[in-house]
Amino acid sequence: MSVKLDSLQRVFVAQLKDMYSAEHQLLDVLPRLHEAATSQKLKDAFREHMEETQGQIARIDSIFETLDFEPGGHRCEAMDGLVKEAKEIINEDGEPEAKDAALICAAQKIEHYEIATYGSLRAYARVLDLDKAYKLLHKTLEEERSADSLLTDLAENTINRLAMLAAN
Ligand SMILES: [Fe+2]
Repeated sequence: MSVKLDSLQRVFVAQLKDMYSAEHQLLDVLPRLHEAATSQKLKDAFREHMEETQGQIARIDSIFETLDFEPGGHRCEAMDGLVKEAKEIINEDGEPEAKDAALICAAQKIEHYEIATYGSLRAYARVLDLDKAYKLLHKTLEEERSADSLLTDLAENTINRLAMLAAN
């Protein structure tokens, strides 16, 4: 990371930059996830998360406006890896239902990464008394959690079973 971690505010900024990069990387791959999905509900979930992700980037922008830092200058390597795995699934041939199950798994890995970072960021904002940032991060964290549980519902109530039947 380019920012030195010599205070909690610096850790906050460093992680915020990480998410800024991560969200942009995700925004780039979401249209491809949408296209690769077969289930209409899964397509809808990816489309909805595209719009949410744009809003989440705007929230990070507005947090940076209150700080003396710019959002750029860092690339999230973890998201690079997660996106690479998602692209491997997108490019694979196979039963559409099984592919949907794998796409959900890749997307949930991404969501969990985001939830972990936003959870830490929100906790830092609380202790640093950054009220506006706290509220914005809380909103984003809630969105990420509900995106994740929507994917769990889709997998466990429909898609995993269809994927299992498709192989027979
Ligand atoms: Fe996000």
